[in-house]
Amino acid sequence: MAAAKSISSRIAGFYKRTLAKRLDVVADSGLLSAASRAWLQAGGGLDSVTADRMSENVIGCQGLPLGVGLNFRINHRDYLIPMAVEEPSVIAAASNAARLVRVSGGFSGTADAPVMTTQVQFDDVPEADTAPARVEAARADILAAGNRAIPSMVARGGGCVDLETRVLDRDEGLVVVHIYVDVGDAMGANLVDSVAEAVAPVLAELVGGQIGLRILSNMPLRRMVRVSGQVSADAIGGAELAAGIVRASRFAERDPLRAATHNKGIMNGVDAVALALGQDWRAIEAGAHAFAAIEGRYRPLATWAHTDDGSGIIGTLHMPLAVATVGGATRVHPGVQACFELLNLSDGGGARELAVVMATVGLASNLAALKALAGEGIQRGHMRLHRRRLEDEAQVARVEHGGGGGDE
Ligand code: MEV
Repeated sequence: MAAAKSISSRIAGFYKRTLAKRLDVVADSGLLSAASRAWLQAGGGLDSVTADRMSENVIGCQGLPLGVGLNFRINHRDYLIPMAVEEPSVIAAASNAARLVRVSGGFSGTADAPVMTTQVQFDDVPEADTAPARVEAARADILAAGNRAIPSMVARGGGCVDLETRVLDRDEGLVVVHIYVDVGDAMGANLVDSVAEAVAPVLAELVGGQIGLRILSNMPLRRMVRVSGQVSADAIGGAELAAGIVRASRFAERDPLRAATHNKGIMNGVDAVALALGQDWRAIEAGAHAFAAIEGRYRPLATWAHTDDGSGIIGTLHMPLAVATVGGATRVHPGVQACFELLNLSDGGGARELAVVMATVGLASNLAALKALAGEGIQRGHMRLHRRRLEDEAQVARVEHGGGGGDE
């Protein structure tokens, strides 16, 4: 990846330009390589040879619009955020919310070290209650056996960092051992699956019983991200609307039916960035919803409250997020490579910075949805965007696919 450049994510009137002009504006930022610019100019997509290599029984390629989330300022740094999504309004809404938060100082966030959890199952374990102590006594040997399975990751500074044994059912002798693995900038699924398979026989000597599954958990509780954003009541449209957003948040906190929709709005943003950047969005979705229900009741991933001084509202989002800047589609897909260039993560930022960016887009999407719902309702905005798109299309005959860009 090229050295990170300093850019502004505030591009006035972006949505009003033609698709070709938007691409010129983005390319003028100097973020895109010649190959990526050419790939975008050719309409994006995936050549059939690469597609055929990536999956099975391939007969073609499925396209999605790729847009840019604007106005994002996160931890004092501006980002142009690639988003691939079929649903209209998602990119415009996130960009509009980011503009509101931007004038109040922007978003901030942190991500845990990239530690994945892998699980080894044992059944019919004799004296299950004492299994944790038996495993604990051999902790160093087990972690070393795990590390031997992933030498390149260990050489890059990652590797097995911890373990834990849980007795899930004492009577059935159902015991699970977790190995926690620092996977660096990888998503880590293959790495930790290798670790689980390598340590299973070592563990079996200690635990007894019968080896069961050896696979990662898609709820990586040691790979969490936390982001927050504050917006003044003036910027959001007045004290009444600010209070409406807080009440909407309380509704989601009290009601799983509403929380599901609230979280869907968050995932509109998270998934759009995930798709653009070739991330495993099924894993992200699984982790998000499992975490939302971790307290025994399905809860919102993000909540909004009044700021202490009452001048505005503050939103916080907390979720597990296993994302990668290396490996998988990041290596082979030219569009994913172009999107990483555009995103322009800071030098050395890697997967943790990406997690913060993705969660922030989720929080912005949530703010946009709650602002619309607590105000005029969601449909008027949709229709306005739809009308604007038709007007733009009529005005600019050469535009093949007009669209709102959320920079109102
Ligand atoms: C639509 O894709 C997402 C929303 O339903 C989210 C929400 O209700 O918070 C608008």
